[in-house]
Amino acid sequence: MAVIPVAIAGAPYEVRIQAGVLARAGEHCRPFLRKDRVSVITDENVAGQWRQTVAASFDAAGIRSEWLVLPAGESTKSWEHLARTVDWLLEQEVERKDRIVALGGGVIGDLTGFAASIVKRGCGFIQIPTTLLAQVDSSVGGKTAINTPAGKNLVGAFHQPALVLADPLALDTLPLRDVRAGYAEVVKYGLIDDPAFFQWCEAHGASVLAGDHAAREYAIAHSVAAKARIVAADEKETAGVRALLNLGHTFGHALEAETGFSDRLLHGEGVALGMVLAARFSARQGMMSGEDAQRVVAHIGAVGLPASLLALGLTCNGRQLADHMLHDKKMDAGTLPFLLMRGIGQTFLANDVDLADVAAFLDEELTPP
Ligand code: GLY
Repeated sequence: MAVIPVAIAGAPYEVRIQAGVLARAGEHCRPFLRKDRVSVITDENVAGQWRQTVAASFDAAGIRSEWLVLPAGESTKSWEHLARTVDWLLEQEVERKDRIVALGGGVIGDLTGFAASIVKRGCGFIQIPTTLLAQVDSSVGGKTAINTPAGKNLVGAFHQPALVLADPLALDTLPLRDVRAGYAEVVKYGLIDDPAFFQWCEAHGASVLAGDHAAREYAIAHSVAAKARIVAADEKETAGVRALLNLGHTFGHALEAETGFSDRLLHGEGVALGMVLAARFSARQGMMSGEDAQRVVAHIGAVGLPASLLALGLTCNGRQLADHMLHDKKMDAGTLPFLLMRGIGQTFLANDVDLADVAAFLDEELTPP
């Protein structure tokens, strides 16, 4: 088992990664629970796959599990389902020192974490992420949120879990497209500050996607260790360090907005193409070599993630895409911090990017050769 400590001041915890850990969830959670009862929040799809296994593991540990099963999908991250979850937790008489369990992908983790942050002014929670994206990114670091009509993740709180359990076997039952979208966040850690890990991704990305358990376990553990380092250095994203995790997200957010936050472009796919665009824009600005930018394009494309803006078939122009960036939640007093690259593993925060240059670049990317 890989155990990655997340050294958040005042709220340290571990991420435990192991094939089969879902079937031993009760045993792992037991020392974190004060009672012989636990409230578990999940969605219909995850319940279909894992409820029996996880409930049996709690039974075996002498803990009765109570379940709230929510609809699957992004629309569950809403005021309505937050209210339903909070009311249910209050009916369960959850107390501040209790820990509730989030079993699922990013939607369930974000919603449950936010509910935990407000029930009785804050109770504890444990993350058991079942998608690659949740295992390598959203379950670690304490960002919790819901979506509102004004945008995604605009209402939330920093609230750290007490424990994270990640089981690579959970990925076996997911559609390949979802695993691939989560893999974009794995590649991101190489591009941020770890060229050797990017090289590992180039060599082993295909195995990760093909279902090789050892490769998956390594990719998850390495990614979590990278995220743990970053969030321990800058928990609340105020020191310009955690912001590095937004590599690819500014371009990606504009693409998601243009495609209506729909299945046409999953979040991870938007991040993948966003990283390609960040690399190509960095090269166009003379910051990164064309060869390094091409390596990014080649790897993203080789694993089947979108690597060409033109291929997305958008009907907008560069200015319209850049306009979506004005509504990005990272806007800061009229400027938009951009993550650019000086090379593979040399990402930096640029505060002086001119959106007119970005629009001109996007027009070029949208123009057939
Ligand atoms: N997913 C970005 C972060 O946790 O900061």
